[in-house]
Amino acid sequence: MGYTICYISKAKDDLTESQIEEIFNKTYTENSLKSITGILLHGMGNFFQILEGEKNHILPLYEENIKNDERHSDIFEVINKPKDTAIFANYRTHFNIIRTNEQLEDVKKYLREHEINTTTDKFQRLLNSFIL
Ligand SMILES: Cc1cc2nc3c(=O)[nH]c(=O)nc-3n(C[C@H](O)[C@H](O)[C@H](O)COP(=O)(O)O)c2cc1C
Repeated sequence: MGYTICYISKAKDDLTESQIEEIFNKTYTENSLKSITGILLHGMGNFFQILEGEKNHILPLYEENIKNDERHSDIFEVINKPKDTAIFANYRTHFNIIRTNEQLEDVKKYLREHEINTTTDKFQRLLNSFIL
């Protein structure tokens, strides 16, 4: 079953660039292996993540690992429910780490051009509030 989780969280105050890179690299590698699509970015002291894929891959990862990860807190869930359409399945790479404003603009452009449903619209609005 297809599933989508999207949240915003507060990065731990003293997180260094290299710690952020460590999270990015681990996430990219693991999610690519599990065919999880979506994005992860860090901006203005927050993380923003979209996870799409099989429910039995995504939910345990989110509930057991991500939620308990002490490198962030105050998770605000935007979406946590079954969804058949994986918006990022047709984007550049399946899972995408967004490191630059150029990459962020590219994601926004993709979402504008692929207005699949109200979720796409929601993602666009949320991403508009991020500057990297
Ligand atoms: C903001 C944030 C997002 C994360 N996203 C993922 C993710 O999508 N996939 C993943 O495998 N780990 C992710 N992690 C890392 C996990 O929380 C956790 O460290 C990792 O799954 C532990 O792996 P291990 O103990 O099995 O090596 C994330 C961590 C943070 C802080």
